[in-house]
Amino acid sequence: MVRLGVNIDHIANIRQARKAVQPDPIAAAVIAEMAGADGITVHLRQDRRHIQDRDLRLLREILQTRLNLEMSAEQEMMEIALSIKPDMVTLVPEKGDEITTQGGLDVIGQKDLLAQQIQTLQISEIPVSLFIDPDLAQVKKARKIGADCIEIHTGLYAAAKTPKQQQEELEKIEQAAKLAKKFTMGVNAGHDLTYRNVTPILAIEEIEELNIGHNIIARAVFVGLEQAIKEMLALVQKS
Ligand code: PXP
Repeated sequence: MVRLGVNIDHIANIRQARKAVQPDPIAAAVIAEMAGADGITVHLRQDRRHIQDRDLRLLREILQTRLNLEMSAEQEMMEIALSIKPDMVTLVPEKGDEITTQGGLDVIGQKDLLAQQIQTLQISEIPVSLFIDPDLAQVKKARKIGADCIEIHTGLYAAAKTPKQQQEELEKIEQAAKLAKKFTMGVNAGHDLTYRNVTPILAIEEIEELNIGHNIIARAVFVGLEQAIKEMLALVQKS
């Protein structure tokens, strides 16, 4: 069964819009776990626009499932990860002015830095996933520098305007997933996945985990968080 990691950054976005104490992403994490989520994903950004250091500390204490920390490969984030010890770190590219993560890491261009950070995290027994585009050269390099896992960026698939484009993107994701699996790496996927576009992704049998945030939280505004997560889990289970 594919695991569902729920990204709760958008709960923190609402809180930070008012610099208030509610809604608390910690409460969201508890509800997500009670609804059946297999893990909680948060992105601690350098500008702290949503998740705060305090959130990370509390999540580490209270989660019953798994904590996946998305972060850039910067030194400040490395120090935080080494002290918090999440169940997994997903390294992502980060630009200050982006609305959300734009595209995957350039593993080929940044191989030395990424290899060093992967090794440092693994010495502390923290497995490392690299968020990459569905590009075979990136998958090969991710393996070469020792990543445990890849998370395939599904943004272009989600943005496809025609069934033909969508099919082409799906095939790229499938090829990347197959290659990573052949290398015995873990295979996750995420970004811009929705209740409407997730099913073809679930049909790729190499994919083991999805990380979904925005669309679940958007639905939760109307139906409640527990219901929104259960509806996504029902799609996961159906496939
Ligand atoms: N995976 C990664 C690496 C991400 O950066 C994000 C967005 O924070 C997600 C998954 C979730 O994307 P979305 O919010 O579009 O579902």
